[in-house]
Amino acid sequence: MSVVIGCSTAESSETVQKDSQRPILVQGPMPIEAEEFAERLENVKEEKSGTFEFYIGTVDNYPVIVAKTGKGMENTAAATAVAIERYNPIAIINQGTSGGHDPNLHVFDIVLGKRSVNIGSLKTADRDENEGIKPTEWKPMDLMASEGSAGEDPNAENIRYYKGDMDLLAAANAVKEKYKKGKIVEGTIGSADVWNNEVDRIKWFHNKYGTSVEEMETASAAQISKAYDVPFLGIRILSNNKVNGGEYNPTTASANQEYVYEVVKKYVSTLPSK
Ligand code: 5AD
Repeated sequence: MSVVIGCSTAESSETVQKDSQRPILVQGPMPIEAEEFAERLENVKEEKSGTFEFYIGTVDNYPVIVAKTGKGMENTAAATAVAIERYNPIAIINQGTSGGHDPNLHVFDIVLGKRSVNIGSLKTADRDENEGIKPTEWKPMDLMASEGSAGEDPNAENIRYYKGDMDLLAAANAVKEKYKKGKIVEGTIGSADVWNNEVDRIKWFHNKYGTSVEEMETASAAQISKAYDVPFLGIRILSNNKVNGGEYNPTTASANQEYVYEVVKKYVSTLPSK
């Protein structure tokens, strides 16, 4: 005789798996970056794990889970791992707002993350007491380069880019024309638990790393998605751009979700089980 212990978590995971339709996971850090998408889901129920909230529903009868992750790299990494273990997603989209590094991008423009990079993972130069600090001498540090000390390993002094998934990128490009509030470009998303307001520092990242925008989540979710081999794409709207005077506009968060909803519908239509 087998004993089944009922709990909402196990039941919902089973429901999702039963159809052999693995869900698409759409992540947003702040309430304004997740709840609007969650409202577009049908048949929604909510689950929580720690501070992470999961809205489990469907889009065009296909399972889609919206995750409100909270801000920053740590929340995002943990929320991504929890979601992968719990819901076994077929693909992950991390979306939300960002600050421009590219002077040609304006508030309401959207960057599709052809690649993302952790711009907080840095190794300083060797300087003795009273020799000061020189951030422009800092070197990139690849945390995934080896299992030894990243601080000692010269092979770790490289920029680690995480590639956006080609099928997700194709779906995003296919519905570009539906977005009327700005332009949509492929680019590089830089992430760290830092908000840069020094224009020269922003330019340094833009030149050295090729960053189009900065925010605090995409590279973290990309790193964990890669660890589990789950297709991933970051989609970031500019809510501000210090480089060209673009003032912060929080309504960009909902414009991005509107567009990402179209991307999800397109991606769903390309899935074989659909
Ligand atoms: N720098 C860093 N993070 C930004 N965000 C929006 N603009 C910026 C910026 N210029 C996003 C982050 C985080 C929240 C503070 O807003 O991704 O979730």
